[in-house]
Amino acid sequence: MNVRDSEHMIAELNTKEPYELTEELGDADLIIINTCSVREKPVSKLFSEIGVFNKYKKDSAKIGVAGCTASHLGKDIIKRAPAVDFVLGARNISKITKVIEEKHAVEIDINHDDSSYAFGEYRTNPFKSMVNISMGCDKSCTYCIVPATRGDEVSIPSDLIVGEIAKAVKTGAKEVMLLGQNVNNYGKHFTANDEKLNFTGLLQKISKIEGLERIRFTSPHPLHMDDEFLEEFANNPKICKQIHVPLQSGSTSLLKAMKRGYSKEWFLNRCEKIRRLCPQATISTDIIVGFPNESEEDFEDTMDVLEKVRFEQLFSFKYSPRPHTVAAEFEEQIPNEIAGARLTKLQVRHTEILDEVMNAQMGRVHKVYFDELKAGGKISGRSDDGKLFFVEGSEELLGEIVDVKVTKVSRGALEGVVCN
Ligand code: 5AD
Ligand code: SF4
Repeated sequence: MNVRDSEHMIAELNTKEPYELTEELGDADLIIINTCSVREKPVSKLFSEIGVFNKYKKDSAKIGVAGCTASHLGKDIIKRAPAVDFVLGARNISKITKVIEEKHAVEIDINHDDSSYAFGEYRTNPFKSMVNISMGCDKSCTYCIVPATRGDEVSIPSDLIVGEIAKAVKTGAKEVMLLGQNVNNYGKHFTANDEKLNFTGLLQKISKIEGLERIRFTSPHPLHMDDEFLEEFANNPKICKQIHVPLQSGSTSLLKAMKRGYSKEWFLNRCEKIRRLCPQATISTDIIVGFPNESEEDFEDTMDVLEKVRFEQLFSFKYSPRPHTVAAEFEEQIPNEIAGARLTKLQVRHTEILDEVMNAQMGRVHKVYFDELKAGGKISGRSDDGKLFFVEGSEELLGEIVDVKVTKVSRGALEGVVCN
């Protein structure tokens, strides 16, 4: 989501003056640090980065802090780091042309109506198209800072979404990634619009776009994975067979304390249904360990779900208490060593599962959409089920979907040769 927000910033800047990206810090006239604040670590990194940028930038260059940390720390960023020229919240991107003009401007209103979400056109890579379908989040997961930094959930009108995707297709994209905090809650919060379309309806509408061959989305919420949606996922040939189902915890009582709205049984039931309807699909997940009060038994429930679902990809985190969240006030915080040991156990077991999954890929053929040139005469892309591929090849493969046979496997990526 931040990558797309950065593209929106460049698009807005370009409406006033042409900007281009540079890899050389010393060449930059404007440095924007687009931040995350979901855990404590990136926030502390921010201040050390500001120090480095300030030291090596040219004198006239401005530094801006954007994104979720900008939303939640606001003017305190400038107090702590006066080298920062402006602070721009995650919901305030359309104001970028204004804040770069003012010294120490701070724009962080989370319920700001961001210019009807119609930003200018800009993509760092024409073959990788991301399109927002909603903004903000209407949930209140007790560990999560996002509703406080990105504001209320708003669904973007479907005609705007379709228009944006059609433009991306015209400039070379065959695949789109739909973005939202909670994509399958789409349609619950249109503003000033009598549109009635849910996420399944939106997927069907997007599928009709000529020239668009693949649709991905992130992140759906397990609570809203109704049968209608899972059947659309399984049966619509344009929808890539890769789905993120964020578990967070396998313990029903912890899920309750997290206010996730589903139980261990519901989660397992949804994953079983995905595996049954669509055996070729890969399932990824997010897991937090060491949430306040997490007992050994709770953690074993998480391990049990890992064992049963055998996620193909795992994003796992130690719980990090965040400001503006309910859980930060809970008394039973888990000692760091215990959370660390649980994280290691979870990751070690997942690695074993992943090795089995990836080793089984040897010799298989996947349809790969190539979207990026790499160093050393390589090109990268993803299979329909989301596996990362590296293949020897050049420009002519960019934007193409071709059959690739796997010749080498590793945990993170596959290598292969184009089948003729
Ligand atoms: N501590 C640790 N992980 C968190 N996440 C969100 N908030 C926290 C937190 N306070 C994780 C969740 C979410 C992912 C984007 O980040 O797993 O799905
Ligand atoms: Fe955070 Fe929960 Fe919203 Fe996801 S659904 S962004 S975890 S509050």
